[in-house]
Amino acid sequence: MNIPSRVRLIDVGPRDGLQNEKQPVPAATKIELVHRLQAAGLREIEVTSYVSPKWVPQMADAAEVLAGLKRADDVRYPVLVPNLQGLERAIATGVTDIAIFTAASDAFNRKNINASVDESLERLKPVAEQARAAGLKVRGYVSTVLGCPYQGAVPLAEVVRVSEALFHMGCYEISLGDTIGVGTPHAARDMLRAVRSAVPIEQLAVHFHDTYGQALANVYACIEEGVRVADASVGGLGGCPYAKGATGNVATEDLVYMLHGLGLETGVDLDALCDTARWISAELGREPVSHVAKARQPQVA
Ligand code: HMG
Ligand code: MG
Repeated sequence: MNIPSRVRLIDVGPRDGLQNEKQPVPAATKIELVHRLQAAGLREIEVTSYVSPKWVPQMADAAEVLAGLKRADDVRYPVLVPNLQGLERAIATGVTDIAIFTAASDAFNRKNINASVDESLERLKPVAEQARAAGLKVRGYVSTVLGCPYQGAVPLAEVVRVSEALFHMGCYEISLGDTIGVGTPHAARDMLRAVRSAVPIEQLAVHFHDTYGQALANVYACIEEGVRVADASVGGLGGCPYAKGATGNVATEDLVYMLHGLGLETGVDLDALCDTARWISAELGREPVSHVAKARQPQVA
Protein backbone atom coordinates (compact mmCIF):
# COMPACT_ATOMS: atom_id res chain seq x y z
CA MET A 1 0.00 0.00 0.00
CA ASN A 2 1.20 3.45 -0.89
CA ILE A 3 -0.10 5.65 1.92
CA PRO A 4 1.35 9.16 2.41
CA SER A 5 1.61 10.59 5.94
CA ARG A 6 -0.20 13.83 5.15
CA VAL A 7 -3.20 14.63 3.00
CA ARG A 8 -3.94 18.17 1.77
CA LEU A 9 -7.60 19.08 1.99
CA ILE A 10 -9.43 21.77 0.06
CA ASP A 11 -12.75 22.70 1.60
CA VAL A 12 -15.00 23.68 -1.28
CA GLY A 13 -18.12 24.15 0.87
CA PRO A 14 -18.42 27.94 0.52
CA ARG A 15 -18.40 27.52 -3.29
CA ASP A 16 -19.51 24.04 -4.33
CA GLY A 17 -21.80 23.85 -1.30
CA LEU A 18 -23.45 27.24 -1.30
CA GLN A 19 -23.75 27.55 -5.10
CA ASN A 20 -26.52 24.99 -4.87
CA GLU A 21 -28.69 26.49 -2.11
CA LYS A 22 -32.22 27.38 -3.16
CA GLN A 23 -32.55 30.08 -0.49
CA PRO A 24 -30.28 33.15 -0.64
CA VAL A 25 -27.36 32.91 1.79
CA PRO A 26 -26.15 36.31 3.08
CA ALA A 27 -22.55 37.24 2.22
CA ALA A 28 -21.91 37.69 5.96
CA THR A 29 -22.76 34.00 6.54
CA LYS A 30 -20.43 32.95 3.71
CA ILE A 31 -17.64 35.06 5.18
CA GLU A 32 -18.16 33.64 8.65
CA LEU A 33 -18.08 30.12 7.20
CA VAL A 34 -14.67 30.77 5.68
CA HIS A 35 -13.38 32.25 8.95
CA ARG A 36 -14.64 29.26 10.92
CA LEU A 37 -13.03 26.84 8.47
CA GLN A 38 -9.67 28.55 8.71
CA ALA A 39 -9.94 28.60 12.52
CA ALA A 40 -10.57 24.83 12.37
CA GLY A 41 -7.26 24.37 10.53
CA LEU A 42 -8.26 24.29 6.86
CA ARG A 43 -5.49 25.88 4.81
CA GLU A 44 -7.20 25.88 1.40
CA ILE A 45 -10.76 27.09 1.14
CA GLU A 46 -12.55 27.61 -2.18
CA VAL A 47 -14.48 30.71 -1.25
CA THR A 48 -16.71 31.61 -4.19
CA SER A 49 -16.96 31.74 -7.98
CA TYR A 50 -16.81 34.54 -10.50
CA VAL A 51 -19.24 32.93 -12.91
CA SER A 52 -22.13 34.65 -14.66
CA PRO A 53 -24.71 35.74 -12.05
CA LYS A 54 -27.35 35.04 -14.70
CA TRP A 55 -26.33 31.40 -14.55
CA VAL A 56 -25.60 31.03 -10.83
CA PRO A 57 -27.20 33.88 -8.86
CA GLN A 58 -26.08 32.27 -5.58
CA MET A 59 -22.51 33.44 -6.30
CA ALA A 60 -23.39 36.97 -7.45
CA ASP A 61 -21.95 38.38 -4.19
CA ALA A 62 -18.42 37.06 -4.89
CA ALA A 63 -16.78 40.50 -4.63
CA GLU A 64 -18.54 41.22 -1.35
CA VAL A 65 -17.37 37.87 0.07
CA LEU A 66 -13.77 38.58 -0.98
CA ALA A 67 -13.90 42.08 0.48
CA GLY A 68 -15.10 40.77 3.85
CA LEU A 69 -12.46 38.08 4.30
CA LYS A 70 -9.83 38.45 6.98
CA ARG A 71 -7.15 36.64 5.01
CA ALA A 72 -4.51 34.68 6.90
CA ASP A 73 -0.99 34.51 5.42
CA ASP A 74 -0.89 30.72 5.51
CA VAL A 75 -4.32 30.12 3.97
CA ARG A 76 -5.11 30.02 0.25
CA TYR A 77 -8.49 31.18 -1.03
CA PRO A 78 -9.07 29.90 -4.57
CA VAL A 79 -12.11 31.02 -6.57
CA LEU A 80 -13.72 29.44 -9.61
CA VAL A 81 -13.31 31.36 -12.87
CA PRO A 82 -15.02 30.37 -16.19
CA ASN A 83 -13.67 32.99 -18.61
CA LEU A 84 -11.66 36.20 -19.00
CA GLN A 85 -14.49 38.28 -17.57
CA GLY A 86 -14.36 36.18 -14.41
CA LEU A 87 -10.58 36.50 -14.25
CA GLU A 88 -10.82 40.28 -14.46
CA ARG A 89 -13.34 40.34 -11.60
CA ALA A 90 -11.16 38.00 -9.53
CA ILE A 91 -8.00 40.05 -10.01
CA ALA A 92 -9.89 43.25 -9.15
CA THR A 93 -10.65 41.80 -5.71
CA GLY A 94 -7.11 40.70 -4.89
CA VAL A 95 -7.51 37.00 -5.62
CA THR A 96 -4.22 35.06 -5.85
CA ASP A 97 -5.56 31.57 -6.68
CA ILE A 98 -8.10 30.60 -9.31
CA ALA A 99 -9.60 27.34 -10.49
CA ILE A 100 -10.64 26.90 -14.10
CA PHE A 101 -13.09 24.16 -14.96
CA THR A 102 -14.41 22.01 -17.75
CA ALA A 103 -15.67 18.44 -18.09
CA ALA A 104 -14.87 15.26 -19.94
CA SER A 105 -18.33 15.23 -21.49
CA ASP A 106 -19.71 17.58 -24.14
CA ALA A 107 -23.29 17.11 -22.93
CA PHE A 108 -22.56 18.30 -19.38
CA ASN A 109 -20.37 21.17 -20.57
CA ARG A 110 -23.13 22.47 -22.84
CA LYS A 111 -25.52 22.65 -19.88
CA ASN A 112 -22.97 23.97 -17.39
CA ILE A 113 -20.85 26.40 -19.38
CA ASN A 114 -22.60 26.63 -22.76
CA ALA A 115 -19.65 25.17 -24.68
CA SER A 116 -18.35 21.84 -25.95
CA VAL A 117 -15.23 20.34 -24.39
CA ASP A 118 -13.02 21.64 -27.18
CA GLU A 119 -14.61 25.09 -27.17
CA SER A 120 -14.11 25.27 -23.40
CA LEU A 121 -10.44 24.35 -23.70
CA GLU A 122 -9.96 27.12 -26.27
CA ARG A 123 -11.76 29.56 -23.96
CA LEU A 124 -9.66 28.57 -20.96
CA LYS A 125 -6.26 28.87 -22.64
CA PRO A 126 -6.03 32.68 -22.45
CA VAL A 127 -7.54 32.60 -18.95
CA ALA A 128 -4.75 30.33 -17.69
CA GLU A 129 -2.13 32.28 -19.64
CA GLN A 130 -3.18 35.71 -18.37
CA ALA A 131 -3.72 34.47 -14.82
CA ARG A 132 -0.24 32.97 -14.70
CA ALA A 133 1.27 36.10 -16.26
CA ALA A 134 -0.38 38.08 -13.44
CA GLY A 135 1.28 35.75 -10.90
CA LEU A 136 -1.83 33.78 -9.96
CA LYS A 137 -1.83 30.07 -9.16
CA VAL A 138 -4.17 28.15 -11.47
CA ARG A 139 -5.88 24.90 -10.53
CA GLY A 140 -7.90 22.87 -13.04
CA TYR A 141 -11.09 20.85 -12.61
CA VAL A 142 -12.28 18.05 -14.84
CA SER A 143 -15.94 17.18 -14.17
CA THR A 144 -17.91 14.01 -15.00
CA VAL A 145 -14.83 11.79 -14.76
CA LEU A 146 -16.94 8.76 -13.76
CA GLY A 147 -20.21 9.53 -15.49
CA CYS A 148 -22.29 12.30 -17.01
CA PRO A 149 -25.87 13.15 -16.01
CA TYR A 150 -26.80 13.66 -19.68
CA GLN A 151 -24.69 11.28 -21.78
CA GLY A 152 -24.11 8.49 -19.20
CA ALA A 153 -20.77 6.74 -19.65
CA VAL A 154 -17.72 8.92 -20.26
CA PRO A 155 -14.74 7.37 -22.10
CA LEU A 156 -11.59 7.27 -19.95
CA ALA A 157 -9.62 8.52 -22.95
CA GLU A 158 -11.58 11.77 -22.78
CA VAL A 159 -10.86 12.17 -19.06
CA VAL A 160 -7.16 11.69 -19.81
CA ARG A 161 -7.19 14.07 -22.78
CA VAL A 162 -8.93 16.90 -20.89
CA SER A 163 -6.75 16.45 -17.78
CA GLU A 164 -3.62 16.58 -19.91
CA ALA A 165 -4.86 19.68 -21.75
CA LEU A 166 -5.40 21.55 -18.46
CA PHE A 167 -2.03 20.37 -17.19
CA HIS A 168 -0.34 21.71 -20.32
CA MET A 169 -2.08 25.05 -19.79
CA GLY A 170 -0.01 25.31 -16.61
CA CYS A 171 -2.45 24.16 -13.95
CA TYR A 172 -0.40 23.17 -10.91
CA GLU A 173 -3.01 20.58 -9.99
CA ILE A 174 -5.90 18.82 -11.70
CA SER A 175 -8.91 17.95 -9.57
CA LEU A 176 -10.83 14.97 -10.92
CA GLY A 177 -14.53 15.41 -10.24
CA ASP A 178 -17.17 12.73 -9.91
CA THR A 179 -19.78 15.43 -10.29
CA ILE A 180 -22.81 13.19 -9.82
CA GLY A 181 -21.29 10.76 -7.33
CA VAL A 182 -21.87 7.60 -9.36
CA GLY A 183 -18.36 6.14 -9.11
CA THR A 184 -17.30 3.12 -7.09
CA PRO A 185 -13.79 2.39 -5.77
CA HIS A 186 -12.44 0.23 -8.59
CA ALA A 187 -13.83 2.59 -11.22
CA ALA A 188 -12.19 5.48 -9.37
CA ARG A 189 -8.90 3.62 -9.19
CA ASP A 190 -8.97 2.69 -12.87
CA MET A 191 -9.74 6.28 -13.84
CA LEU A 192 -6.85 7.53 -11.72
CA ARG A 193 -4.46 4.99 -13.20
CA ALA A 194 -5.43 6.15 -16.67
CA VAL A 195 -4.97 9.85 -15.87
CA ARG A 196 -1.66 9.40 -14.14
CA SER A 197 -0.21 8.03 -17.36
CA ALA A 198 -0.49 11.66 -18.59
CA VAL A 199 -0.30 13.81 -15.43
CA PRO A 200 2.04 13.09 -12.48
CA ILE A 201 0.16 11.66 -9.50
CA GLU A 202 1.58 14.45 -7.27
CA GLN A 203 -0.41 16.88 -9.38
CA LEU A 204 -3.74 15.09 -9.15
CA ALA A 205 -6.51 15.71 -6.64
CA VAL A 206 -9.86 13.97 -6.22
CA HIS A 207 -13.28 15.55 -5.87
CA PHE A 208 -16.06 13.12 -5.01
CA HIS A 209 -19.71 13.91 -4.61
CA ASP A 210 -21.55 11.50 -2.33
CA THR A 211 -24.83 10.95 -4.19
CA TYR A 212 -24.61 7.15 -3.97
CA GLY A 213 -22.74 7.06 -0.63
CA GLN A 214 -19.47 6.00 -2.29
CA ALA A 215 -17.36 9.10 -1.81
CA LEU A 216 -15.32 8.01 1.23
CA ALA A 217 -14.61 4.60 -0.27
CA ASN A 218 -13.58 6.27 -3.51
CA VAL A 219 -11.19 8.68 -1.75
CA TYR A 220 -9.70 5.73 0.11
CA ALA A 221 -9.13 3.83 -3.13
CA CYS A 222 -7.37 6.87 -4.59
CA ILE A 223 -5.24 7.40 -1.48
CA GLU A 224 -4.09 3.80 -1.82
CA GLU A 225 -3.04 4.70 -5.35
CA GLY A 226 -0.94 7.60 -4.03
CA VAL A 227 -3.18 10.67 -4.30
CA ARG A 228 -2.39 13.22 -1.58
CA VAL A 229 -4.99 15.89 -2.19
CA ALA A 230 -8.76 15.71 -1.73
CA ASP A 231 -11.59 18.20 -2.03
CA ALA A 232 -14.42 18.00 0.49
CA SER A 233 -17.24 20.14 1.75
CA VAL A 234 -17.99 20.97 5.37
CA GLY A 235 -21.31 19.48 6.45
CA GLY A 236 -21.49 17.62 3.12
CA LEU A 237 -22.99 20.75 1.55
CA GLY A 238 -23.55 21.09 -2.12
CA GLY A 239 -24.11 19.84 -5.58
CA CYS A 240 -24.02 21.36 -9.01
CA PRO A 241 -26.98 23.41 -10.27
CA TYR A 242 -26.48 21.85 -13.73
CA ALA A 243 -26.36 18.22 -12.52
CA LYS A 244 -29.88 17.55 -11.25
CA GLY A 245 -30.14 15.15 -8.30
CA ALA A 246 -26.42 15.27 -7.50
CA THR A 247 -25.82 15.80 -3.79
CA GLY A 248 -22.94 17.39 -1.92
CA ASN A 249 -19.28 16.53 -1.76
CA VAL A 250 -17.91 14.06 0.74
CA ALA A 251 -18.24 15.83 4.09
CA THR A 252 -14.90 17.24 5.23
CA GLU A 253 -15.46 16.00 8.80
CA ASP A 254 -16.20 12.43 7.63
CA LEU A 255 -13.05 12.50 5.51
CA VAL A 256 -10.92 13.97 8.32
CA TYR A 257 -12.18 11.29 10.71
CA MET A 258 -11.23 8.54 8.24
CA LEU A 259 -7.81 10.05 7.49
CA HIS A 260 -6.93 10.51 11.17
CA GLY A 261 -8.06 6.92 11.78
CA LEU A 262 -5.62 5.82 9.07
CA GLY A 263 -2.83 7.69 10.87
CA LEU A 264 -2.72 10.47 8.26
CA GLU A 265 -2.31 14.11 9.23
CA THR A 266 -4.56 16.88 7.98
CA GLY A 267 -3.86 19.76 10.38
CA VAL A 268 -7.60 19.99 11.04
CA ASP A 269 -9.21 20.18 14.48
CA LEU A 270 -12.10 17.72 14.08
CA ASP A 271 -14.20 19.12 16.93
CA ALA A 272 -13.96 22.68 15.61
CA LEU A 273 -14.84 21.41 12.13
CA CYS A 274 -17.89 19.53 13.45
CA ASP A 275 -19.01 22.69 15.28
CA THR A 276 -18.72 24.52 11.95
CA ALA A 277 -20.71 21.83 10.14
CA ARG A 278 -23.50 22.07 12.74
CA TRP A 279 -23.41 25.88 12.64
CA ILE A 280 -23.68 26.23 8.84
CA SER A 281 -26.34 23.52 8.67
CA ALA A 282 -28.39 25.38 11.30
CA GLU A 283 -27.96 28.61 9.31
CA LEU A 284 -29.41 26.76 6.32
CA GLY A 285 -32.23 25.35 8.46
CA ARG A 286 -31.27 21.69 8.53
CA GLU A 287 -29.20 18.97 10.18
CA PRO A 288 -25.68 18.26 8.85
CA VAL A 289 -25.73 15.30 6.49
CA SER A 290 -22.37 14.01 7.68
CA HIS A 291 -22.09 11.04 10.01
CA VAL A 292 -19.32 12.48 12.14
CA ALA A 293 -20.94 15.86 12.90
CA LYS A 294 -24.06 14.00 14.02
CA ALA A 295 -22.14 11.41 16.05
CA ARG A 296 -19.85 13.80 17.95
CA GLN A 297 -21.46 15.92 20.63
CA PRO A 298 -20.56 19.62 20.90
CA GLN A 299 -17.59 20.22 23.21
CA VAL A 300 -18.53 21.80 26.53
CA ALA A 301 -15.97 24.44 27.58
P1 HMG B 1 -22.82 32.36 -21.80
O1 HMG B 1 -24.24 32.78 -21.58
O2 HMG B 1 -22.51 31.50 -22.95
O3 HMG B 1 -21.78 33.57 -21.82
O4 HMG B 1 -22.35 31.67 -20.45
P2 HMG B 1 -21.81 35.03 -22.39
O5 HMG B 1 -20.38 35.40 -22.56
O6 HMG B 1 -22.73 35.09 -23.56
O7 HMG B 1 -22.42 35.89 -21.19
C1 HMG B 1 -23.78 35.93 -20.85
C2 HMG B 1 -23.99 37.03 -19.83
O8 HMG B 1 -23.28 36.70 -18.62
C3 HMG B 1 -23.43 38.37 -20.29
O9 HMG B 1 -24.24 39.37 -19.66
C4 HMG B 1 -22.08 38.42 -19.67
O10 HMG B 1 -21.62 39.73 -19.44
C5 HMG B 1 -22.29 37.70 -18.38
P3 HMG B 1 -25.26 40.28 -20.57
O11 HMG B 1 -24.42 40.82 -21.68
O12 HMG B 1 -26.31 39.31 -21.05
O13 HMG B 1 -25.74 41.29 -19.59
N1 HMG B 1 -21.06 37.02 -17.92
C6 HMG B 1 -20.48 37.22 -16.74
N2 HMG B 1 -20.79 38.03 -15.71
C7 HMG B 1 -19.97 37.99 -14.64
N3 HMG B 1 -18.88 37.19 -14.54
C8 HMG B 1 -18.56 36.37 -15.57
C9 HMG B 1 -19.37 36.36 -16.71
N4 HMG B 1 -19.32 35.69 -17.87
C10 HMG B 1 -20.35 36.11 -18.60
N5 HMG B 1 -17.48 35.58 -15.44
C11 HMG B 1 -20.63 31.09 -18.87
C12 HMG B 1 -21.06 31.08 -20.33
C13 HMG B 1 -19.40 30.19 -18.76
C14 HMG B 1 -20.30 32.51 -18.47
C15 HMG B 1 -21.81 30.54 -18.00
O14 HMG B 1 -22.26 29.35 -18.55
C16 HMG B 1 -21.43 30.30 -16.56
O15 HMG B 1 -21.15 31.24 -15.83
N6 HMG B 1 -21.45 29.00 -16.12
C17 HMG B 1 -21.04 28.65 -14.78
C18 HMG B 1 -21.89 27.52 -14.26
C19 HMG B 1 -21.42 27.13 -12.88
O16 HMG B 1 -20.93 27.94 -12.11
N7 HMG B 1 -21.60 25.82 -12.55
C20 HMG B 1 -21.17 25.31 -11.27
C21 HMG B 1 -19.70 25.24 -11.12
S1 HMG B 1 -18.94 23.82 -11.90
C22 HMG B 1 -19.09 22.57 -10.71
O17 HMG B 1 -19.78 22.73 -9.73
C23 HMG B 1 -18.27 21.31 -10.86
C24 HMG B 1 -17.07 21.24 -9.91
O18 HMG B 1 -17.48 21.33 -8.55
C25 HMG B 1 -16.33 19.90 -10.12
C26 HMG B 1 -17.25 18.68 -10.09
O19 HMG B 1 -17.99 18.48 -9.10
O20 HMG B 1 -17.22 17.95 -11.09
C27 HMG B 1 -16.08 22.37 -10.19
MG1 MG C 1 -18.26 19.67 -7.39
